[in-house]
Amino acid sequence: MEPLKIGIVGLGTVGGGVVKLLEKNKNLICQRAGRDILITAVCAHSKDKDRGFDVNVYEWFDNPLDLVKHENVDVVLELVGGADGIAYDLIKEAISQKKPIITANKALLATHGYEIAEIADKANVPVFYEAAVAGGIPIVKTIREGLAGNGIKEIYGILNGTSNYILSEMTKTKRAFDDVLKDAQEKGYAEADPTFDIDGTDAAHKLAILSTIVFRTKPNLHNIYTKGISEIKAKDIDFAKTLGYEIKLIAKAFSSGDTLGQSVTPCLIPQSHPLSSINDVLNAVLFEGDFVKYSLSVGYGAGEGPTASAVVADVIDSALGIYRPVFGVNTAELKDAKRVAESENMCRFYMRLPVLDKPGVIAEVASILKDEDVSIESMLQHGHDPGQSVSVVMTTHETAAANIYNAIEKISTLRFMTSEPCLIQIEDLTS
Ligand code: HSE
Repeated sequence: MEPLKIGIVGLGTVGGGVVKLLEKNKNLICQRAGRDILITAVCAHSKDKDRGFDVNVYEWFDNPLDLVKHENVDVVLELVGGADGIAYDLIKEAISQKKPIITANKALLATHGYEIAEIADKANVPVFYEAAVAGGIPIVKTIREGLAGNGIKEIYGILNGTSNYILSEMTKTKRAFDDVLKDAQEKGYAEADPTFDIDGTDAAHKLAILSTIVFRTKPNLHNIYTKGISEIKAKDIDFAKTLGYEIKLIAKAFSSGDTLGQSVTPCLIPQSHPLSSINDVLNAVLFEGDFVKYSLSVGYGAGEGPTASAVVADVIDSALGIYRPVFGVNTAELKDAKRVAESENMCRFYMRLPVLDKPGVIAEVASILKDEDVSIESMLQHGHDPGQSVSVVMTTHETAAANIYNAIEKISTLRFMTSEPCLIQIEDLTS
C-alpha cells in the first residue's frame, strides 16, 4: 500500500510532540496503520528555532496554504490553534482539496464547528480532532463510538489541565497563583494566551464540543456560563477542606427536555467524589448513560506527550480510512438548544466575606440573605481580631442562583467589607 504522506502546520508544543512521537514509535505506528506514514512537509513561524529534532529532513513551507495544496501531502495536521485566521483558512482549503484534516483546535471547533462539519461531511472529508478535548484521554472516541448506543443525560468533568494544576499546586504547596501559572506555562500545559486557561474559556471550548457530540446540538459557546479560577485564594481551598470539599474547575452539561444547561465554573465538590482526587494536569470526564450507567475517563489533559498521542491516533485512523461524521451524526441532525439561564439554577453556595471583625456584621449580612430568601446552612470564622479584617465563611442551603447573586451584590457594598467577597458554587455531583 502507498505510504500516507502527512503535512504538519505548527511545530509548537503539539506539533513538535507529534514529530517526536512519529519518529520514536515509527514501527509500531506503521504496523497499526497497515502502511508507512511519512512526514513529507512542515510549516511553522521560524525554521531556525531549536526544537530538539531536525526540520531540514522535511520539506519546509513558509505558507501553510501552499503546504495544503502540495501534491506530496495527503493529510493535513493543523496544529497552529486559534479560532480564526490561518487555522480556519487552511482547514477550509484542505476540505476543498479533499484532504483529511487532523486538528487539536478546540477554539475553532467550538466557534466554527458547525460550518466545518457541514462542509466536511458534505464533501465526505474526515476531520479528526481527538486532541482537541482532554489531551491524551480518547474522549471523542469514547462518546462518539464507544458509548454511541447510549442516551446520555449528563456529562461533567475537569477539562483544563492548567487550572487543575494551579489549584492542585496551590493546595499542595501553598504557592501563589502567578508562580504556579508560570510553572504550567514552562511545562507546556497552558494555551498561547493563558487567560483562556484561567478564565474558563478553554474548558468551555472543550465542553461545547463534547455537548455537540453527546446532545446532538450545534456547538454554541454563548450558551455556556463561564467563570474562571482567578478569584480563588489559598484560604478558600483551606476553608473548603475544613468543610469536607475540594475546589475544582468543573465543566458540566445536562439536558432537560429541549433545554441544555452548560457551565464551566469553580465548584466545591465533596472529598468523597472521584473527581476530587483528580490532581495536577490530569483531566477527567464522567457520563451517565441510560444503559452503560456511569463511565469515568481519566488521563493527562495537556502537555506535549499526551496531546501528541491523541493526534497520532487520528493519523492512524486516517491511514486506515476509518472515520465518522464529524460530530457523530449528519450535521442536519444538529439542533439549536435552548439555554438554561444560570440564574435559574438551584444550588448551594460557599461565600467568603472579608469583613471587619466587630459585632453586628453577621446580623447585617443575615438580614440581606433573609431579604433574598437565602437560607444559611453553616458559618465559620477562623481567628478573632477585633477591628481588623477577618474571613467569615458561610454555606447556604439550596437557593436560586439569581437570589444569591443579588445578595452578594448588596453585601459587597456594606461598609465593613474590607475587600471583594468570593462566591463559589457547591456541587454535590451526586450522580
Ligand atoms: N491548555 C490546555 C489545558 C491544554 O491546560 O488543558 C490543551 O487543551
